[in-house]
Amino acid sequence: MEVIIKSNADEVSREAAAIFRRQLREKTDSVLGLATGSTPVGLYDRLVMMARAGEIDLSHTTTFNLDEYVGLSSSHPQSYAAFMRRHLFDRVSVARWHIPDGKARDIPRLCADYEEAILEAGGIDLQLLGLGSDGHIGFNEPGSSLGSRTRLKTLTARTVADNARYFASPGEVPRHVVTMGVGTIFDARHCLVLAFGEGKAGAVAAMVEGPVTAMVPASVLQMHPVCTLIVDEAAASGLERRDYYRWVYENKPAWQRA
Ligand code: PGA
Repeated sequence: MEVIIKSNADEVSREAAAIFRRQLREKTDSVLGLATGSTPVGLYDRLVMMARAGEIDLSHTTTFNLDEYVGLSSSHPQSYAAFMRRHLFDRVSVARWHIPDGKARDIPRLCADYEEAILEAGGIDLQLLGLGSDGHIGFNEPGSSLGSRTRLKTLTARTVADNARYFASPGEVPRHVVTMGVGTIFDARHCLVLAFGEGKAGAVAAMVEGPVTAMVPASVLQMHPVCTLIVDEAAASGLERRDYYRWVYENKPAWQRA
């Protein structure tokens, strides 16, 4: 895993945008795995800016979002479908986008179809991920099988509390979600994880320097062949080897840089 420490959230988004640009230059019809939450917002703003400036072209890409709340229709303002339209799809065009349907009647069918659609698209080239304060990726909460596929999950009380800021009251936060599994995420050819702020420092340390365990689903990325983690100083503050990660980045060969 490559760990990149940047001075602030804006610099993290800038570095992540450079990785997207490189991916799109290598493969214009890339299959992109996308995320929601506060973490990717700055990156999406940058991608929109770069697309408008003609620096990148997203119009041939196919996208798959990680997850969606069960019970919210795509028109509900807190659905992830609405989030993605607001932050990306209403601002730039992509060839095709996919988000699990929170109102699907047959959830197991929806999940199987989602897996099938990812396979049919040729698999995910670059998967963007936020990191939950409990170490989750997608909505794979602690205890999720590291081999899991897209399925229904029940959120932890902590995640419900973390996400309550978007809803009028914690009682309105759905308890259930459909999420790509840890195994689904692991199949992406490149995983790109972003994290900002002190609240993520414990999860970042456990993900990078702790044992690989289902108790910290993100820790499985230690076994992923191509994983990049970009964090700000606050989120890096629990890393014991942060001086080494800085040293590696400073001494990176020019051809490896995004
Ligand atoms: P956040 O959530 O980006 O809102 O911090 C990350 C996550 O829960 O995956």
